[in-house]
Amino acid sequence: MNSIYEKIRNQALDIASRYPATAFYQNFPEQVAFSLRTFESDPVVGALHDFVAGHTEDDFGHGLHHAVKVAQDAGALAAIEGRCFSSGNDGFISDDQMGHRVRMAQCAGLLHDIRRKHKNHAQEGAVFAEKVLERYAFSRHDIMDVCLAIENHEAFKETKPGRSLEGSLLSDCLYDADKFRWGVENFTHTVWAMVSYANIPIRKFMDAYPSGIVFLEKIKTTFRTPTGKIYGPEFIDQGLSLGEQLYSYIQTEFARYL
Ligand SMILES: [Fe+2]
Ligand SMILES: [Fe+2]
Repeated sequence: MNSIYEKIRNQALDIASRYPATAFYQNFPEQVAFSLRTFESDPVVGALHDFVAGHTEDDFGHGLHHAVKVAQDAGALAAIEGRCFSSGNDGFISDDQMGHRVRMAQCAGLLHDIRRKHKNHAQEGAVFAEKVLERYAFSRHDIMDVCLAIENHEAFKETKPGRSLEGSLLSDCLYDADKFRWGVENFTHTVWAMVSYANIPIRKFMDAYPSGIVFLEKIKTTFRTPTGKIYGPEFIDQGLSLGEQLYSYIQTEFARYL
């Protein structure tokens, strides 16, 4: 990474380390822990993680770290939403069904940016994911649900409906978990890797900063699950606060480059 961007990222990490966990993690400790346990112990998720680790380029801000965070939060969202939402007759889903939904959300999270450097990465990712998932013991419906979620995960694009309510929910959980990353993690990981990878000079980057902030603001209104709509905006607000502090830091520390 370019040394200026590395210094800014370190500053971002330092500021972010003093931020509290967002309410999402504080209010749903059970579901967050369940998702983490599934992520650590499920053999299929583990195999897919290893596959993604071997097929993801880590130099542009959407690598393995990003995929893992999205997978874990998509799993937590699937667990939260699954409790309030069921297509079963009795209004409840079994622990096995819940485990399955969490596993599917994590598979979608792991694979969603596997084609991130390609144009139309969501569609291309879905096509690629289908081929990968066919190697594992997934049903046809499960594969269709995961691929649809990947295809639907980009912001400000039209979404396709799921083949079922579960499919649509999986799609929405992936979207929200991905957009949670547009908060603090945007400034502690993603953006510096992206600008460094694209060789963008700091001056040009700072010129585009205000429009980038407007873009982040807009994300707040796009969350799709009921939980994401309530808790998602706080992720973005934390990121915006960090972004504001970094903007002043850059103007002071790197004035000679601007
Ligand atoms: Fe993406
Ligand atoms: Fe992503």
